[in-house]
Amino acid sequence: MAFTLFQSTLLSKPSLFSYRRSFAFCIQLSSFSTSSAFPSDKFQPNKKWRQPVASVLELGGVKIAKDEIVRDDPTNNVPDSIFSKLGMQLHRRDQHPLGIMKNAIYDYFDTNYPNKFDKFDDLCPIVSTIANFDDVLVPTDHVSRSYNDTYYVDSETVLRCHTSAHQAELLRGGHTHFLVTGDVYRRDSIDSTHYPVFHQMEGVRVFTPADWEASGTDATSYAAEDLKKCLEGLARHLFGGVEMRWIDTYFPFTNPSFELEIYFQDDWLEVLGCGVMEQEILKRSGRVDNVAWAFGLGLERLAMVLFDIPDIRLFWSNDERFTSQFSKGQLGIKFKPFSKYPPCYKDMSFWISDSFTENNLCEVVRGIAGDLVEEVKLIDNFTNKKGMTSHCYRITYRSTERSLTDEEINDLQWRVREQVETKLLVVLR
Ligand code: PHE
Repeated sequence: MAFTLFQSTLLSKPSLFSYRRSFAFCIQLSSFSTSSAFPSDKFQPNKKWRQPVASVLELGGVKIAKDEIVRDDPTNNVPDSIFSKLGMQLHRRDQHPLGIMKNAIYDYFDTNYPNKFDKFDDLCPIVSTIANFDDVLVPTDHVSRSYNDTYYVDSETVLRCHTSAHQAELLRGGHTHFLVTGDVYRRDSIDSTHYPVFHQMEGVRVFTPADWEASGTDATSYAAEDLKKCLEGLARHLFGGVEMRWIDTYFPFTNPSFELEIYFQDDWLEVLGCGVMEQEILKRSGRVDNVAWAFGLGLERLAMVLFDIPDIRLFWSNDERFTSQFSKGQLGIKFKPFSKYPPCYKDMSFWISDSFTENNLCEVVRGIAGDLVEEVKLIDNFTNKKGMTSHCYRITYRSTERSLTDEEINDLQWRVREQVETKLLVVLR
């Protein structure tokens, strides 16, 4: 499963919220970083491996306290572990594989379209639901709007779930060629290619009638052809001779829409979504006579293929054995795994309730085990004669950095069992 906007999950009803704050200060081009770190005991069950969670972020000179983003309120579902990722901006580190990827893509655009594309890589990830969904025509009943799939700060503010959240705003600002890179946030399952924070780059190019009129084709075909040519060129620039294929798909904001897949570890891996921008988006930004293409690519996906990085958690590692293997501008380096510590499997069976979702389970597990959890996988599922449904999940614990002790894993598993029962209202078997 890849990072499309249409994974089908339950849409839970947003509740009334009692507290709302304006994020108007979260302006375009503001860069922010963690300004101070006060560990909170409540959220740090195991200090041995947990990083301290900052209590305040600084956003363009304005401080945002953790309790404004992480709240015990039905309209808020941002856990502490996610707050701690805000402002890390891995894509802005030139020595980090994600920064190296971003710069390599910049090089492609700079070479092929000199001085054409405006680049943004520090737009605020806290955006309105209007920017994240409405502006890019995501229907009101679309699953991506659900609390199960997206992190809500309040009922009108989310952690952006895609860089497309900035399309309309930049078009309205008069930009016609742009690249937006940023951290994006999605509640999701747990495995080696999924992490609740990852990084995307959005590209948009607007054409005027003069561009396609000379070509003898219609505007949409012209844009679609240009888009595929551009992205195939990019894939060759990054990968050389990798196998790739185009898949027709659906996005609310493009028509026609495509996905590009790359052959990786014996499987086809979806690395980007793209298409010809829906005319309505251009119209609303005052560009009735134009057509445009847009793409959104996952930097982790590309970097995993390119650097042979086998597990998405490694991008967050501060372990020198990982970080020291990469240097600025070096694209072709193959990551040499420094260890394969033994995995530990723990199975857990329970009768689910109506409100149970796998994303909620994964959030509980991550909240307790952090990056020590490698995978959460449904291995058995049945419904008995009384109509009760049982799920059995296998949790794989494995550190990318060290061996885990039995005691440590047993402790984690007990806490997972406890919280799964109390928070998810399931009955353990
Ligand atoms: N926003 C889409 C996603 O995150 C990717 C995309 C961007 C698709 C732009 C089409 C155009 O899945």
